[in-house]
Order: sequence, then C-alpha cells, then structure tokens
Amino acid sequence: MNIVNQPEWLDNAIFYEIYPQSFCDSNGDGIGDFNGIIGKLDYIRELGCNAIWLNPCFKSPFGDAGYDVSDYYSAAPRYGTNEDLKRLFGEVHKRGMHILLDLVPGHTSVEHEWFRQSMKAERNEYTDRYVWTDSIWEEPRGMGCIRGISDRDGSCAVNFFSHQPALNYGFYKPDPDKKWQQSMDSEGARATLEELKNIMRFWLGMGCDGFRVDMAGSLVKHDEDGKGTIKLWQNVREFLDREFPQAAMVSEWGEPDKSLQGGFHMDFLLHFGPSHYNDLFRCDEPFFSKRGKGDVSEFVKKYLENYEKSDKKGLMCIPSGNHDMDRLARECYGNELKVSFAFLMSMPGAPFIYYGDEIGMRYVEDLASVEGGYGRTGSRSPMQWDDSTNAGFSSAPADKLYIKQDDSPDRPTVSAQMSDENSLYNEVKRLIAVRQSHSALQSRGGIEFLYAEKNAYPLVYLRTNGDKKILVIINPSDREVTFDCKFPLKEKKIYSVGKGLSVDNGKITVPPCFAGFYEV
Ligand code: NOJ
Repeated sequence: MNIVNQPEWLDNAIFYEIYPQSFCDSNGDGIGDFNGIIGKLDYIRELGCNAIWLNPCFKSPFGDAGYDVSDYYSAAPRYGTNEDLKRLFGEVHKRGMHILLDLVPGHTSVEHEWFRQSMKAERNEYTDRYVWTDSIWEEPRGMGCIRGISDRDGSCAVNFFSHQPALNYGFYKPDPDKKWQQSMDSEGARATLEELKNIMRFWLGMGCDGFRVDMAGSLVKHDEDGKGTIKLWQNVREFLDREFPQAAMVSEWGEPDKSLQGGFHMDFLLHFGPSHYNDLFRCDEPFFSKRGKGDVSEFVKKYLENYEKSDKKGLMCIPSGNHDMDRLARECYGNELKVSFAFLMSMPGAPFIYYGDEIGMRYVEDLASVEGGYGRTGSRSPMQWDDSTNAGFSSAPADKLYIKQDDSPDRPTVSAQMSDENSLYNEVKRLIAVRQSHSALQSRGGIEFLYAEKNAYPLVYLRTNGDKKILVIINPSDREVTFDCKFPLKEKKIYSVGKGLSVDNGKITVPPCFAGFYEV
C-alpha cells in the first residue's frame, strides 16, 4: 500500500451526497441547480457534514441521469454555468467544507462529440477513443455493444446502458488474433488516459477537492483480477501526487484491496456483489429491523476480509443509501432508523449520508422511470424542506417537478424535524457531533468485532485510536438480548438511543431498539 498523499480533511470527513436534480431549485424550473445547493450549504454544515459528493453535473442528454456525459468540460445548463459551479466550490470552502465531483471515466453518452467522430468510417483523432471491434459481425465478448448505427464497420462495446459506449483504456492481455483489442500502452488507450487527466486537471484547477469515481474498476478490459486497472489508477495517482497532492479520490469499486492499491483513498461498500451490505438494511429480514430476524455475521465476515486486505485501514465507506438503491426508510422505520445511523456513524471509513436520509425520506412507490432511473427513481424524489409549495423544493407547478414528490400527508420535512428534539434529524446531528469529538470513532480508527454471531443480536464492536477505546453496542431488535463482555462497563457512556442497559458480572443485558457508545 503506497498512498503518498492523503488529504488530512478526509480523516474526519462526513459526506452528504447531493443529487443535483432533486435538492433545491432556485429558478423555478422544477429541477434543482447550483444556486439552490449554495442556498442550502448552511443546512448541511449545521447537520455536521463537512464534505459533499455531487452526482454528475455535466452536459448530458440525461439518459442515465447525467452518468452519460456529452461534454466533460461544461456544466449542464439546467444546473447553471461553470462559473456558478466554481462559485459553489468557493462557498463550500468558505464554510470549511470540501466537495467531490462525480467523475465518469468508463463511458460517455452516444452524443459525445468523441463518439460521433469515432463512428465515422474514415480514420480520425477519435477512432480509437472507444472499444470497437473491426467488423460489424463481431461483438466484443461479454460487454454488450452498439452496432449498425453508423458507417464504421465495427461494433462498439458498452459499459453500462446500451447508450454508454466504453472508452478505450486498452485490454489487459489483448488476444493476438483480435487486432482490434488494443493494449494498455497503445496510442489510443494512452490518449484516453491523458484526456482523463486533463478533465481532472480542469476541475481540480477550478477548485473542486477531488472525485467520486464511477465504476472505477471497469476501465481496462478483460482484466479479471483488476491488475491492469490498478496499474492505470497508479498512473493517475502519480499525476495527482505531482500536480494535485491534496485531491481526494473515492472509488465506486467495492474491492478495497484493489482500489487502495490503485491509489484511491477510500472505496465504497456496494449494494451488489459480495459485500453483504444489503443484509443490513435492504433484504427481506434486514439486521436493522425490530423483527430481529436478520443476520449480520456474513457482513462482518466479508468486512473483516476487506479490512485485512486493505492493511487494516478501514477505508471502506458505508453509505446510508445512494441514488442507486432503495431509500433506507423503505425497510427501516422509526427507531430502527436511529439505531441504523448509530451504526453508520460509528464505523470506520467516511460515512456518506444520502440527501434526505437524515429525515427518513421515503422511497416513492410506483413512479414511472425518469432519466434512466427505473426502479431507482423512487429514491431520487425532490428534497422535502418544509410545508410550503412542493415542500420548499421548487416554486414550479407540481407536475413540472423533476420527479413526483412523496405526497403523503405525514411526509417528513426538514423544518418539522429541526424543531422536534426527538426527530431522526436531531439524532443524526447528535451522532455526528459524537463522532467528531472522538477520534476512535472516525475514519481511520481501528475496529474489532466482539459479538457478531450468526442470526443473533446484539452487534458489538470496539473502535480504537491509540489508547482510546470506545465500545459500541447495537440492538435493533424489539427484544432484550445479552452477551458476555470482557470490559468492565463503568458509567462512561458517551451516547445512547434507548435506555436501560444493565451489567451483571460481565454479562450485559441490552434493551430492545438500543444503541450505545461507551469509553472503556
Ligand atoms: C454507477 C452510478 O452510481 C449509476 O447511477 C450509473 O447508472 C452507473 N454507474 C453507470 O454510470
């Protein structure tokens, strides 16, 4: 592991993810924008978050909500101008916060000028910008493709949806019989990588603090063990160390042993693949349900494997949710949400709060897909600020809103929750404050699981930093549970939701729906 530069602010960063379409609309067109975000920065700061991840905000036909970029160097006009975005960076910094843009290096929109050029039959500067076979009759194995829409005699690999052609960073081991498979150091692949650096240079130069990198593990093709892609990111790391040593890099990869080697500072636990993240909040019987029928042990096992592989640097970020998964409040309710946040705010890696999760915003059921959202659309509805028109999100007529809002009469709002001491909002705010005043609870503190048994409750772990130790006890179930504790629990409670923990001769009895942090 060889991370040369780690921006210090990442150590106690708590991120707030902003989906720009749905956060705050300042000009009444029904879609959120940069000025709207600027107007809400104090809210984010007051909650206690000190960093922002902004979903893609570049020019795009929005076939995948902006993950289909058509110009990496221009802000999407619906959010504002590059100057507005620059002003957003400045306003973020003025408040002592940081901001990551969303970098989409694996694919573009079919409308990107590079792709238009690369579709041409005549060779040009962009012929090798994407992964093309050399015959329309040959499809790139295992990748899906776009074919038959231009004069170029070939099929172009796609990276996600079929309107997202894959950029060419080369193949790890090109098949010598397939001349179209270029190597990582072919001219075309190198040019793509250099252009990626230019894009990063452009936005870092303008003042952003780094990137959340979309599908970071997808760049080099036929690279099963990720060796080529790791090498590619190491090359980017050298560039950053040279030119922008303070830039923060967070990957959507889900394999910290690979991403951290590639020079990323942090990786995400993903809701797909082997992480067992969904066992916590998003399955038939989540661990964080009061039914108490969940199982946390597989999650912990996988977490520890990754923890070991990433040098015991707990740099895996566990999000409360994101724009790709169901809202946390689709499966968890009431105190379950508070206990869930106690877990999220006491794990290593930077916590990421998806906008609205701090007030328990719900998944809006039965929506038609918007901008390639499909089942994800219900998690992307406009923020609920107050009781005014459209919950204070926008002054547009309700049918002009980007996505239909939760229209239930008891929908949560920021203003109502701010004035209720017992609200989820205030619990999350307290939890953030506790985390921020105890280094052992923060990103780089160690973790040791003391009780995480199969199909059993509670979950108990120790967070450490030097000689500071904090015991975390979590019981989402609605029944009392016990475990044997080797630490003498004196009255050094620094936080709890729920009451009534009792200790008898090393046996701890944990009340239902409870989370507590103790200095030991
Ligand atoms: C992951 C993003 O989070 C998701 O929203 C997007 O659709 C895909 N990558 C493709 O870019």
